[in-house]
Amino acid sequence: MDPKLRAIIEQVKVDILAPAQEADNEAQLKEVSRSFFSDTITVPTKAMYEYAVRASVGDAVFREPCTSAFEEHMAQLTGKEAALFVSSGTLGNQLAIRTHLLQPPFSILTDVRSHINSYEAGGAAMHSGAYPIPVTPSNGHHLTLEDIKAKAVLGSDIHFAPTHLICLENTLNGMIFPQNDIIKIAKFARENDILMHLDGARLWHVAVETRLPLSELCAPFDSASLCLSKGLGAPIGTCLVGSKVFINKACWFRKAFGGGMRQTGILAASAAYALSHNFPQLPRVHALARRLQRGLEELGVGILCPAETCMVFFDPSTIGVEYGEVERHAAALPEPITLKGSRLVVHIQTTVQAIDDFLRLVSELRDEKVKEGFILSTSQTFANGMTRKYLE
Ligand SMILES: Cc1ncc(COP(=O)(O)O)c(C=O)c1O
Repeated sequence: MDPKLRAIIEQVKVDILAPAQEADNEAQLKEVSRSFFSDTITVPTKAMYEYAVRASVGDAVFREPCTSAFEEHMAQLTGKEAALFVSSGTLGNQLAIRTHLLQPPFSILTDVRSHINSYEAGGAAMHSGAYPIPVTPSNGHHLTLEDIKAKAVLGSDIHFAPTHLICLENTLNGMIFPQNDIIKIAKFARENDILMHLDGARLWHVAVETRLPLSELCAPFDSASLCLSKGLGAPIGTCLVGSKVFINKACWFRKAFGGGMRQTGILAASAAYALSHNFPQLPRVHALARRLQRGLEELGVGILCPAETCMVFFDPSTIGVEYGEVERHAAALPEPITLKGSRLVVHIQTTVQAIDDFLRLVSELRDEKVKEGFILSTSQTFANGMTRKYLE
C-alpha cells in the first residue's frame, strides 16, 4: 500500500472501547441503580441489545422495515393514524409545534413548569416563531380549563398573538393530569380552533396507574410524543403520533431540522424490546417510589410533590437539613448515591437497596440535627396546599 495512504489509515483508526469495557458497563449499571437523578440515565441491557442486533438494516429516510413496523405499532397503540420515530423528546415536541403552527402571529399555551416551556432552549420561539404563554396551575398540580381560559388569546384584536396550540404534559413532575380536565380543555380548544399537543414523554406511567389505554389518553390530542429512552430504558428514541397529514409534514420538518436518521432498525428494535420487557416493570417502579415517599414522611421530611408515579419531590428543611448536605453525604457513602435538589426519580434499574440506604442516610442526618437541638414540626404542606400530618 502507498505509505502515505497507510499513514492516513493509521491516523483515522480508533478503538474507543475501554480495556475493561464490560466491567465498566457493569459499574455504570451499579451507579445508575443508585442514582435518583433522572430516568434518562437508564442503561440498555445485554438482553435488549441481543434482540436489537437482529433488526433490519435499511435506511429509514426512505423506509426501514423494523422502524416502520415500530411506527405502525405506536400509531395503533395510541389510536392515531401514523407515527414518526425521532431521536429525542425535544425533537418530537419541536416538530409537533412547527408542524401545527402555520401562519404567524400565534401563541402557544404551556404549563409554566413544562419541558416545552422551560427546558427546550426557547425552541418554540426559535423554530416556529411562537409567542409562548406559560400558565401557572392555580391548584399547584395541573392546569384546569379555568387556568387555560384566563390566558388563551381569542378573538381578532390585532394587538395580541392568537392562541393556536395548547401543549400539555402528562406526567409532569411525575404527577398525573386527570383525564377529565384534559377532556374539558380539549373541548374548549376544539370550539376555538386551537390544536392540542401532548408531551407524553412519561405517558406510560399514566397508563399503568390509571389503567386507561394509551389510545384513550391520547384521544383528546391532535398529536403526542412518547419517549422510549426515559422510564422505558431504551437507548434513544421518541415517537411522535398524529394524523397521516400531520406526520407526513413532520417528516419533512424532521429532514429540514437534520433529524432524519438512517439505519435505525437497531434503535427501533431496542425501543420495541423496551415496550415488551420494561413497560411491565413500571408498577414495581411506582411501588418503590411510594416506599421512598413513605420512608421520608415517617422521618418527617416534607413532600413537595407526592409519588403519583416514579418521582418524589422532597424538602429536607423540615428536619433541619439542606439539599447540599444530603447530596454531599450521599456522594460520600462507600457505595455513593447521586441526586440533585428536591427531585428523586425512581426507575427500572433503581434497587430496593438504594432506597433503603438513602432513607438510612436521611434518618442519620435527621438524628444529628435533633441532637444539635433542631425541633421537628408535626405537619407538612404540599405544594398544592394540602396538609398531611406525620409523626403522629
Ligand atoms: C417531560 C419531558 N419532555 C421532553 C423531554 C425531552 O426529552 P429529550 O431529553 O429526549 O430531548 C424530557 C426530558 O427529560 C422530559 O422530561
